[in-house]
Amino acid sequence: MDEKKKVILKLEHISQSYVVNSQVKDAVEDVSLEVYDNEFLVILGPGHCGKTVLMNIIAGLEKPVGGAVYLDGEQVEGSDKRIGMVFQSLALMPWKTVMANVEFGPEVAGVPKEERRKTAQKYIDLVGLKGFEKSYPHELSGGMKQRVGIARAYTNNPEILLMDEPFGQLDAQTRYAMEEEVLRIWEKEKRTIIFVTNNIEEAVYLGDRIVLLSNCPAKVKEIYDLKNLARPRNTTDPEFLRIRTEISDNTDLAL
Ligand SMILES: Nc1ncnc2c1ncn2[C@@H]1O[C@H](COP(=O)(O)OP(=O)(O)OP(=O)(O)O)[C@@H](O)[C@H]1O
Ligand SMILES: [Mg+2]
Repeated sequence: MDEKKKVILKLEHISQSYVVNSQVKDAVEDVSLEVYDNEFLVILGPGHCGKTVLMNIIAGLEKPVGGAVYLDGEQVEGSDKRIGMVFQSLALMPWKTVMANVEFGPEVAGVPKEERRKTAQKYIDLVGLKGFEKSYPHELSGGMKQRVGIARAYTNNPEILLMDEPFGQLDAQTRYAMEEEVLRIWEKEKRTIIFVTNNIEEAVYLGDRIVLLSNCPAKVKEIYDLKNLARPRNTTDPEFLRIRTEISDNTDLAL
């Protein structure tokens, strides 16, 4: 990574555990990580290894038992509007239209209607949903709902966007299309993205760096720097396949 790159987010010795049936269960163990401004960072780990727990901690939705999160050098405690999340479960409001879902954040924050509509429309257009402003979530395909989730997160204008397995529920073809979409949006509107996946190919296709987590509890096993792998990437390129195999050989479980 370029030495001049600015660290925007820092995780220091993050640990999380829960008491389940009177037994302590560790979900995240001593995760330390620096995230650079505007990078596309992928967190790759097997199912149930603690990825969502880690994202919830970064988003301030739960408090770790140990360690701290720093944004722009200041400790983050509780949720912070500079950190946005595209949830694994999407969490769109089914009774609200696309526009109402996307403008919900600024509406709650008290942004005047005209201003929030303008911002929401910009991101609805950017994700390719122009013309669907008045549609309801049940009228949309899986990929379109994901686009709504992405537009909603961008409309809150976060510095850091957390995407927790956003394409896990999609069929393979829609998933490829959405991976390209998310890269196109990221190139156009540079933000720091932390993207969670359990799919190695998706990780190598998207990431500037990949943080490989070990299986439960989540620990940083290895960090791969992919900045020399040119974009747009080709999944059949020999270098792509070499990196993919290298990561695959280093994982705890079949990913
Ligand atoms: N509030 C909680 N109380 C008890 N256990 C919890 C709690 N939240 C998470 N866990 C446990 O922590 C572990 C990690 O969960 P997490 O949801 O982070 O996994 P994940 O890596 O996101 O999995 P997936 O790939 O399926 O989304 C799981 O075993 C889960 O049951
Ligand atoms: Mg999860």
